[in-house]
Amino acid sequence: MRKLLLQLDSSRMPSVFDQVVAYDAGADAIMSYGGVTEGDVRDLIHGCIFTRAPKDLHNTAVWIGGNNMTAGEQLLAMAQDALFSPFCVSIMLDSNGSNTTAVAAVVKIEEALGDLRGKKILILAGTGPVGQRAAGLLAKDGADVTITSRKPEQGDKARQFIDARFNIEVKAVAMNDPARLPDLLDGVEILLNSGPAGVQMVPKSAWTAAKSLKIAVDLNAVPPLGIEGVEVNDAGVQRNGVLAFGAFGVGNFKTKLHKACVAKLFTKNDLVLDAEAIADVARTMVKQKPEPAKAR
Ligand SMILES: NC(=O)c1ccc[n+]([C@@H]2O[C@H](COP(=O)([O-])OP(=O)(O)OC[C@H]3O[C@@H](n4cnc5c(N)ncnc54)[C@H](OP(=O)(O)O)[C@@H]3O)[C@@H](O)[C@H]2O)c1
Repeated sequence: MRKLLLQLDSSRMPSVFDQVVAYDAGADAIMSYGGVTEGDVRDLIHGCIFTRAPKDLHNTAVWIGGNNMTAGEQLLAMAQDALFSPFCVSIMLDSNGSNTTAVAAVVKIEEALGDLRGKKILILAGTGPVGQRAAGLLAKDGADVTITSRKPEQGDKARQFIDARFNIEVKAVAMNDPARLPDLLDGVEILLNSGPAGVQMVPKSAWTAAKSLKIAVDLNAVPPLGIEGVEVNDAGVQRNGVLAFGAFGVGNFKTKLHKACVAKLFTKNDLVLDAEAIADVARTMVKQKPEPAKAR
């Protein structure tokens, strides 16, 4: 039976990136809808669940994407509401790659440092979709997580959202000038830049002076890179005594994870792959590969 993926994208144009990866992951056909709003979801989902026998429904799955994470979360909630046993299909949420990117970075950090309980983590520009997901997952690991924002009210709003979504507590601080970094990096072992593409957030002098720092992860692949001196292809190389990961160093694993998750959707008809479940897939993947680079 053909594997069918229903792509519900909150952006006007359904993501071609998500389509290509889904085909590479084994989907036989993708039914793509763009500009999807909450009111559209129920009928689209019913088109999935009433057309095949329940025993065959693992061959139909739903992908939720688009530029806006909040919109994606609303579509996910509506899609879950439209399902009822035994008429279920598996669903994955990855608006703008936020879940898979955040999870890939988090799992690289977990691999390198092991137990993260009590470790101080600074997530720069952690108010975006990737930073928020990473903050929630790292705090769930027991880390002491602080996100930065240029604006105090924006940081506080994101903090509240993360706390509620993951049922944990993170901190938020305002940072609109790299001159604040020496203070903010005091005692920090893990630095994660989730700032926008093409913006340098950390000069080299700031992170190389941070004595406690063990890992620096930069998710920005567009020059100028986010952490000066961490290169885009760094995949666990030592730089100035710090284990460095650049955007492609994380992104290669992100792409493998994205494919593995789409393939997993077609194994059962009741999966919901959001941040935590995607992290479980990633952790299983790393257990199956050779020993990773370790922090000093
Ligand atoms: N490798 C991959 O596959 C992949 C996939 C997705 C994303 N990414 C990368 O991951 C990073 C995070 O993605 P995202 O979508 O979460 O980011 P985003 O929403 O574009 O930006 C994150 C935060 O950056 C802050 N910001 C915006 N403009 C800024 C500026 N000029 N200077 C300083 N801060 C600024 C904003 O926070 P405040 O307004 O609160 O300051 C914003 O919430 C990006 O670099 C993106 O390219 C990589």
